[in-house]
Amino acid sequence: MDSKPDENFIKKTFPGPRVPSLAPLPLLRGQKALVTGASSGIGQAVAIALAQAGADVAINYGRDEQGADETENAARAAGVKAMIHQADVSKEPEVQGMFRDVIRAFGTIDIVVANAGLQRDAALVDMTLAQWQRVIDVNLTGQLLCAREAVREFCRRGVRREVSVAAGKIICMSSVHDMIPWSGHVNYTASKGGIAMMMRSIAQEVALQRIRVNAISPGAIRTPINTPAWGTREAYDDLLRLIPYQRIGEAGEIGHVAVWLASDYSDYINGATIYVDGGMTLFPGFSHGG
Ligand code: BGC
Repeated sequence: MDSKPDENFIKKTFPGPRVPSLAPLPLLRGQKALVTGASSGIGQAVAIALAQAGADVAINYGRDEQGADETENAARAAGVKAMIHQADVSKEPEVQGMFRDVIRAFGTIDIVVANAGLQRDAALVDMTLAQWQRVIDVNLTGQLLCAREAVREFCRRGVRREVSVAAGKIICMSSVHDMIPWSGHVNYTASKGGIAMMMRSIAQEVALQRIRVNAISPGAIRTPINTPAWGTREAYDDLLRLIPYQRIGEAGEIGHVAVWLASDYSDYINGATIYVDGGMTLFPGFSHGG
């Protein structure tokens, strides 16, 4: 599906009437958060939601400086401190430099949302090694590098009871494609499937240090990564066949879940994957017959 977005259809259809608009709660006051890939889409919405919940936020981006500026402005409008750091999360020295920079500015980090991710779609027979490698490097290795630096900082600092009963929280941005196979996207599904076990193994390894590690697996969320799936009436109708709840998700809805998962409201949740997908993982093809 590479049809051009239909602007009239988009204007008429989104934002849908059934997307909840909720007043932010100050659940993260005094905490310091780093969100990777926060210049657009889900990462941008998560960074803004954390800021609206009272956290100071560090906004990482790879290439979209203007998007990062927008995120920073929205975060500051919520009355918290915000900073921007450019880094390619697949490069070890750049990730280490980013953590050093953010810790120097904020004093520490309490919440890391390892979100940066990309797609380089191709049929298996056409997929180049470079397409495979780039997706694995950013989506999987990038999360490993960020989780490792986060755990090092959380262990160095320990629990700050005044802000949270945990020493730190890591949220890995996964996808419904950590469990739904997706032809034409073998690099992407492999990276997300890898995140599922990496996240659970890290959670098991660092639980004793009171560090919580969880994943959010979004389904179809209306962002630039998947415009071909919602940008025209035909594509959107096709997409709705995969979603029992009969609407696409909005990035802010992932923000709501991230705030809760980073807060002490979810303190007993560790090593879990939360699917935020309108039921996409419910095998909707089986709603009749079988
Ligand atoms: C992908 C989107 C896709 C969605 C549901 C996400 O992980 O990045 O392109 O629309 O999964 O299939």
